[in-house]
Amino acid sequence: MKVNLYTDDLREAPVQLLAVGVFSDEPDRGLAFASLNQWLEGALEDACREEDFKGKPGQQVLLNLSPGRSVRRVLAYGYGERKDYTPESARRFGGEAVRVANKVGARSLALQLSLPDAPGPREQVLATIQALTEGALLGTYRFTEHLSDKGRPPSLDEVKVAFVAEDVQGLTGSELRGAVKRAEAVAQGVIFARDLVNAPANVLFPAELADRAKRMAKKHDLGFKVLGPREMERQNMNLHLGVGRGSTHEPRLIHVTYTPQEKTSDRVVAIVGKGLTFDAGGLSLKSAEGMMTMKIDMGGAAAVLGAMEAIAVSKPGCVVHGIVGAAENMPDGNAIRPGDVITGKKGISVEILNTDAEGRLVLADALAYAQDQKPTEIIDLATLTGAAIVALGPHTAGAFVRDEALYERLSQAWTVSGESFWRLPLGRELREQLDSDIADIKNIGERYGGAITAALFLSEFVDASIPWAHLDVAGPVFQAKVSPYGPKGATGFGVRTLVEYLHQVGASGSSGEVS
Ligand code: BES
Ligand code: ZN
Ligand code: ZN
Repeated sequence: MKVNLYTDDLREAPVQLLAVGVFSDEPDRGLAFASLNQWLEGALEDACREEDFKGKPGQQVLLNLSPGRSVRRVLAYGYGERKDYTPESARRFGGEAVRVANKVGARSLALQLSLPDAPGPREQVLATIQALTEGALLGTYRFTEHLSDKGRPPSLDEVKVAFVAEDVQGLTGSELRGAVKRAEAVAQGVIFARDLVNAPANVLFPAELADRAKRMAKKHDLGFKVLGPREMERQNMNLHLGVGRGSTHEPRLIHVTYTPQEKTSDRVVAIVGKGLTFDAGGLSLKSAEGMMTMKIDMGGAAAVLGAMEAIAVSKPGCVVHGIVGAAENMPDGNAIRPGDVITGKKGISVEILNTDAEGRLVLADALAYAQDQKPTEIIDLATLTGAAIVALGPHTAGAFVRDEALYERLSQAWTVSGESFWRLPLGRELREQLDSDIADIKNIGERYGGAITAALFLSEFVDASIPWAHLDVAGPVFQAKVSPYGPKGATGFGVRTLVEYLHQVGASGSSGEVS
C-alpha cells in the first residue's frame, strides 16, 4: 500500500474515503470539519447530530455522499479532548479509518492531519505523521497463511496523509517524507514480528526461526551468525541447551548485526530476545489451558528480529546486536528435571526447581553471549512471567531498569512509540528467595512478586557495570481482542519502542556525551 503526503484542498482530493479527526472540545468541531460541512451544505453536521456524535475517543460517523462528487464518503472520527491528545490517538485513527475503507471497498483514503494546536511543536507534527502512517499500514494486517479461503483482499491501495500548510509550518518536505519513511520501516518490522508470533509451533521451531532471521538479514545486508548445539556446547551455554533437551527440535542462538554506514554514535546496543517457540513447561508441565497460547513464547525474539529489520531499512547511526535464544521446552526422557543443577556460560551454578521457569535459563546464557559483544547497554525482551500479566494486565509490559539514564531514554522512547510500559522495582529484599542450599542460585522464588524474582535472577547474569533493562512483555505481545490497528493475535509489541530508542541513541553522538 502506498502512502503519500497531500497538501491540496481536501475537498478536491480524488479519494473514495475522506477521514477527519474531530476533537470533542473544539468550537464547530474544528476548521477542517467546518469547511467540509460547509461544502456539503450542512449534511455532515446533520449526520453527526443524528448519531449523537460528540467526538469521544474512537467514536465514528460515516456519511455516504451523492454520486458526482470527487469524494465518495466522509468519516468523522472522535479524538476526544484536546488535552488528552498523543500521537497514539492518530495511530488509532489511521488504523480504524483503514478498516472502514476496506469494509466499504474504498481503494483510496485521505487521512486529515488534525493537531490540538496549529502550528504544533515540530516533534509533535512529525510524530503524528509517523503515527498516522503506522496506524494505516498496520490496520490492514491479517494472518492468512493457513486459511484455504483467504477472504477478499484489502481494497485499499493508496493512503494520502492530508494537511494544510499552517499545520506543518517550519518543516521541510524532506522532514515530512522522512516521517512517512520511518513509519514504513517500523510497520515492516512490526509485521515481520506479528507473522513470527502468529506462526504455530509445528511450523516455527528454533531452526525455522533462525532460517527466517537469516533470510531477513541477507535481504538487508545485515551480519548473521547462528550457533547450533555443538557451538553452544563449546561456549558452555548449558542452561540454554538444558531447556532444549526435552525437544526433538534443537536449540539455536541467533545473532544478527547492524553496522551503520554513517556512524554517528559510539554506542553499541545489544537487544536480546527470549525465543521459546513453544513452552509446554517441560517436566513441570503446564495445564492444557496454560499451554494453549504458548507458541507466543518467542514474542521477545520476534520484537528483536522485527526491530532489526526496521533499522536495516531506517538506518540509525549506532551498532546494534540482535541476539535471540531459541529453544522448545518439552517434557521427555532427556528433559532436565526439577532439582538438577546446571552451570552455564557465566559460570554460575543454577538449581532448577521448576522447568517451566525456562525463559530465564535461556536468557542467562544469551545475556552472557551479549556481553561478549562489548555493548554499552543491553535491553532484553521476554514473555517471562504470568506474574507480569497479573500485575499490569494484558496491554502493559513491565520494565525493570538498572540504570537511571537508561530508564530516562527508554521511557522517552516508549512515550513516542505509544507502547504501554510501566516500571517495576528490582526489589533487593526478594533476592534471598533465590538462595539455593546446593548451588549458587535457584531458578524460582515464592509466588508473590514472581515478575520481580525473575528479573532479579536475570540481573545476576549481567555485569553490574553495564546499563541493562529487562522488559517483561508476556501480556502485550498477543491480544485476545481486535485493537484499533491490529486483529486478534500477535501485536508485534516492542518493535516500535526499540526502533525509536535505537534512533535516539544513533542521534546522540559519542558515549561520553550521554551517560
Ligand atoms: N512463558 C511463561 C510465561 C508466560 C505466561 C508468558 C503466560 C505468557 C503468558 C514462562 O516460561 C513461565 O512459565 N513462567 C512461570 C514461572 C514460574 C514457574 C516461576 C509462570 O509465570 O508461571
Ligand atoms: Zn515456562
Ligand atoms: Zn516461557
